[in-house]
Amino acid sequence: MLNPDAIKKDFPIFQNIPGLVYLDSTATSLKPKSVIKKLREYYETYSANIYRGIYHLSERATEEYEKTREIIAEFIHAKSSDEIIFTRNTSESLNLLSYSLGEQIIKKGDEIATTIMEHHSNFVPWQQLLIKKGGKLSVIKLDTEGELDVENLEKYISKKTKILCLTYVSNVLGMANDIKQIIKNVKKINPSIITIVDAAQAVPHRKVDVQDLGCDFLAFSSHKMLGPTGVGVVWGRKELLDAMPPFLYGGEMISEVHVRNTKFKDAPHKFEAGTPPIAEVIALKEAVFYLKKVGLKEIENHERKLVAYAIKRLGQEFKNLHVIGPKNAENKGGILSFHFDRYHPHDVAQILSEKNICVRAGNHCAMPLHEELNLLATVRASFYLYNTVSDVDALIAGLHDVCRILK
Ligand code: ALA
Repeated sequence: MLNPDAIKKDFPIFQNIPGLVYLDSTATSLKPKSVIKKLREYYETYSANIYRGIYHLSERATEEYEKTREIIAEFIHAKSSDEIIFTRNTSESLNLLSYSLGEQIIKKGDEIATTIMEHHSNFVPWQQLLIKKGGKLSVIKLDTEGELDVENLEKYISKKTKILCLTYVSNVLGMANDIKQIIKNVKKINPSIITIVDAAQAVPHRKVDVQDLGCDFLAFSSHKMLGPTGVGVVWGRKELLDAMPPFLYGGEMISEVHVRNTKFKDAPHKFEAGTPPIAEVIALKEAVFYLKKVGLKEIENHERKLVAYAIKRLGQEFKNLHVIGPKNAENKGGILSFHFDRYHPHDVAQILSEKNICVRAGNHCAMPLHEELNLLATVRASFYLYNTVSDVDALIAGLHDVCRILK
């Protein structure tokens, strides 16, 4: 059984800020001691650049960096660590795919399908590419239950659709899309479609197996999974990565440069230009060790319990509050977005903040979804392995204060 009170002791921020109620792990997670220690270890004992130095420190740094690639590959069940590319974040991962793969395969008149619940990072790169190329963005909407309209995929996907890019877990609605089934169904309509999964809100919270999902590419960030900021990941099928041109040029992604031409290294190195976030990649492996030690299944179940408890109490105690998205916690990650009839989400977040409760208010970088729901903004509380039932109680008490102050 996951014990969030014991877990909290591994996160120094809780000792440094007594009474902190952190409900914004969807924006970024907190960091355990082991990750912070690994960052310090690099800077204090083998702080050298990777690949370049024929000396002990550089060799150690290179080994540690490449070890993380192997650990990430194993964590998401990639066939090989050559399928793992390090970027700066999920946004850069998706931009890499748009600039490299998208630029290469999208022609005038082609279509890309995405969904109305995407984070801007998995929406705008594709929208902008299509504006440039003269193609069309097809947007899968919600059904009457507030789930993705997957019963009517032929409305959105055709032989003209070259790419489907969709989120695994919505960063606003919190529900998980049935990626495996959606990909199977989409391939029946168009077997050559390339599928890209934004797993920024999935990899930190549930077991993700890229081979089982059947997708072609998957993107996520270190900082949402207890790891350092400044590192993102692209996983891609090796044969597709091999066929793609580099995204950025320079540094160790090159094997030969002559005055008239350049030869690039093979994937994944051809996609990692310049000095990468060395310390951060090295420390990311500690985040994976921590998640594995606690157990992804336990984390998923724990978040589901907290969300179910929060939904129940919000429903019982607030008549003027509306939870958006499916109310059934069974299919939800630890994400809960809501709004009051009359109170602005920013005012709600501000009052909660005075009580040491951190939530996010706004459109959460998902403006098309908010427009579709006819909302300007929502309040979002998100839960992770270190959150307790007491944190939910604090949120509920804080919301009662909100009602007293703003009434
Ligand atoms: N993508 C992060 C969020 O949804 C920043 O808050």
